[in-house]
Amino acid sequence: MCGIVGYVGPRQASDVLLGGLARLEYRGYDSAGVAIASGGELKVMRRVGKLVNLTQAIGKTPVPGFVGIGHTRWATHGRPSEENAHPHADCTGRIAVVHNGIIENYMELREELAQNGHILRSETDTETVAHLVESYYDGDLALAVRKAIKRLHGAYALGVIHLDEPETIVAARKDSPLIIGLGKGENIVASDIPAVLEYTREVLALADDQVATVSAGQVIVTDLEGAPVESEMLHIEWDLAAAEKGGFADFMLKEIYEQPKAIRETLRGRMGADGIIQLSELEMTPGQIASIDRVFILACGTSYHAGVVAKTLIETWARIPVEVQVSSEFRYGDPIVDDETLVVAITQSGETADTLAGVREARNRGAKVIAITNVVGSRVTRESDGVIYTHAGPEIGVAATKTFTAQIAALNVLALKLAQAKGILGQERIAALWADLNRIPDIVEAILADLDAIEECAAAYTDVYSTLFLGRGVGWAVAMEGALKLKEISYIHAEAFAAGEMKHGPIALISDEVPVVVVATQGHTYEKVVSNIQEVRARGAEVIVVATHGDDEIKRHAEHVLYVPATSELLSAIPATIPLQVLSYRIAKFRGCNVDQPRSLAKSVTVE
Ligand code: F6R
Repeated sequence: MCGIVGYVGPRQASDVLLGGLARLEYRGYDSAGVAIASGGELKVMRRVGKLVNLTQAIGKTPVPGFVGIGHTRWATHGRPSEENAHPHADCTGRIAVVHNGIIENYMELREELAQNGHILRSETDTETVAHLVESYYDGDLALAVRKAIKRLHGAYALGVIHLDEPETIVAARKDSPLIIGLGKGENIVASDIPAVLEYTREVLALADDQVATVSAGQVIVTDLEGAPVESEMLHIEWDLAAAEKGGFADFMLKEIYEQPKAIRETLRGRMGADGIIQLSELEMTPGQIASIDRVFILACGTSYHAGVVAKTLIETWARIPVEVQVSSEFRYGDPIVDDETLVVAITQSGETADTLAGVREARNRGAKVIAITNVVGSRVTRESDGVIYTHAGPEIGVAATKTFTAQIAALNVLALKLAQAKGILGQERIAALWADLNRIPDIVEAILADLDAIEECAAAYTDVYSTLFLGRGVGWAVAMEGALKLKEISYIHAEAFAAGEMKHGPIALISDEVPVVVVATQGHTYEKVVSNIQEVRARGAEVIVVATHGDDEIKRHAEHVLYVPATSELLSAIPATIPLQVLSYRIAKFRGCNVDQPRSLAKSVTVE
């Protein structure tokens, strides 16, 4: 996700800002910029692409000065471009703002600001903050920032400077991290610890709704009313490499733990005050949605598994028939899609060659194509009719984890939208499902807080050669994803089947050397799944079960039970996936595998 660095002190701000932004490069970004108070002027430099472009620009035209803010942007509102890159300035060019997060009510604020005569130059949500601060500024920057943020809905970490107070940065946060590295006679504001480690290991962690006024010699922290408050102080022991991974051993593990946030961000702002699911990206009227008579989902790998979950959601809630196909088959087949078919292309990278070819094929046949992707400005966003973004932040580990669960969250929103527009589900049911869906991030947090059983299970199966994964309904999609995760990062053979298919062939593979992982959370086929477990146990297999808390009976049928909190059956895909991600991760680590960069795999598969 985006990175923020701010500096105030005796060094050249540009050096500290560029150095700090380089430390945050691992987070992924598509443009970068700085604003520095320089010789009585506010100098803003921004460049698209890698940080080196900005560094070269500053090398050619140095920006001397001792106070500044910098940013690496991972596009969320508006394509990656120089105009959309941060910092953003107000109308006077005396105020500059960097921001991480999403301002949900920015459209409303833009309109209000434009009506009041402000000229907005970018497509971003962030620029509204610069103009709001401008409109509230009356000689006290911290006060103006406090007034401005009271108008914001959503998540933000902010760094703000004003030429009238050229020795100060005002920083604030809500639901987006921001820290202040405390140096001797200098202070550094940053969105993440690696950016400050070169200068200090003493860190002040701002809490939500706190505003800090940062100068070289002091940091004053207040609440939103301006009353002084205490912030948490930390002494950082990690080295730089560990800090980039937030103290986790690998990016994959960090990303597994980022899932509650990724899901929350993806759901954020999707339910209107009027009870209507917000999905303007479809660019369809309720009447047009009502006329959709078929949905076709295209995707590869893990994204395909999200598509399999979506088929059940859409068919159950919206009663629209859904076909899910791997993109490589779709593009060379003769698919039946026309102008009444909604084609949904799921691709976290937005660059997968087969999915892009499928998108072109579908559009040639007259279908409307909606992409679900995590990368703003990726190719699929340019080739589709509409885009729904998952807000998972950059995923660096090659194996998809948080992008998968964020895709499922986005597909839940799509399925509810279709059901609502078609009038299949009433308002009360939609509201209840929405409330259940919004509990999923907490459920994921709870699973990640108690991993002992998974650890024990992983240790027991480190040396197996082959495994089978079984499930029914959404549990089958989870089983497929569990098998894919295990094979790609641990190199153990893993195969998934719909549990009911066992006796049509795969059961011949069962032996005491092939452990079987079964997704057996509560649902209408639970009894059937238990029968399948008994069939494989009768043939000597050891069984690992993902089950619902409170199901003590299942212990009689399994060597290991990985419990997840109860949800409704259709919402169980995300919780049931988490233990299987962690299981694969732990097994791969026991085997000494490089989980972030598994052999032969790439994060974006841009060739056929
Ligand atoms: C598995 C994995 C791959 C991708 C597949 C599609 O962990 O990451 O199977 O899911 O290559 O990639 P995207 O979603 O970028 O189209």
